[in-house]
Amino acid sequence: MNMLTIAIDGFSSTGKSTIAKLLAKELSYVYVDSGAMYRAVTLHAMRQGLISSNRFDREGLINSLSELEIRFEYNKELQKGDVYLNGENVEGLIRNLEVSQLVSLVAAVPEVRRKLVEQQKMLGDQGGVVMDGRDIGTVVFPDADFKFFMTASPEVRAERRFKELQDRGDSISYDEVYENVINRDELDSTRKDSPLIKAEDAVEFDNSDISIKDQLRAMLDIISSKLTE
Ligand code: CDP
Repeated sequence: MNMLTIAIDGFSSTGKSTIAKLLAKELSYVYVDSGAMYRAVTLHAMRQGLISSNRFDREGLINSLSELEIRFEYNKELQKGDVYLNGENVEGLIRNLEVSQLVSLVAAVPEVRRKLVEQQKMLGDQGGVVMDGRDIGTVVFPDADFKFFMTASPEVRAERRFKELQDRGDSISYDEVYENVINRDELDSTRKDSPLIKAEDAVEFDNSDISIKDQLRAMLDIISSKLTE
């Protein structure tokens, strides 16, 4: 069977990565979390003092991009790639609220996008990949074999992300998470370069009221029915 390319886009905390991971496992494909790459660049900018809640040295970030190496290395235990920033595994440092509050500013910089999109295209050029993000079906793989677009109500999404962060031991409030979900949606959808929009040919899922298991089954049905057409 051909090695397919599957693009999953959608709003923040819609369970894209959970579904993408399961789908990749089911099909024995590689899963690529493109958001982790933007988060790793954000961590780099924070460490270099280029971005904080009240300042953003865009030029400084653009100039430092050439020193930046982002890659994935397979983690056998988690059965997915961990993201590495200049050789350091930063997987455990990029999911917190601080990074989430700055990542959409970093992801709006065209030079950052150009660098990461080029790498993402290469990761998928042989097919056999499930990639999730904001612009996968529109910019990274406009010719993807399957495109899915995920939404859910902001309350449901904030609740899910709040639980996730609480489980990790982060001390945050639901309101902070809710505000971040709303802010990121707004910034990601209104930026000039590659805004978050549903590709015309993407199948949309609102998973506010459906389980991950049911959604996965529905997506696999779509994939297998098209393959046997
Ligand atoms: O997990 P969650 O949906 O909250 O976010 P993520 O996939 O980790 O992405 C974090 C941020 O990276 C997003 O809010 C976007 O600003 C940016 N991003 C992007 O611009 N393009 C992508 N393909 C993936 C992420």
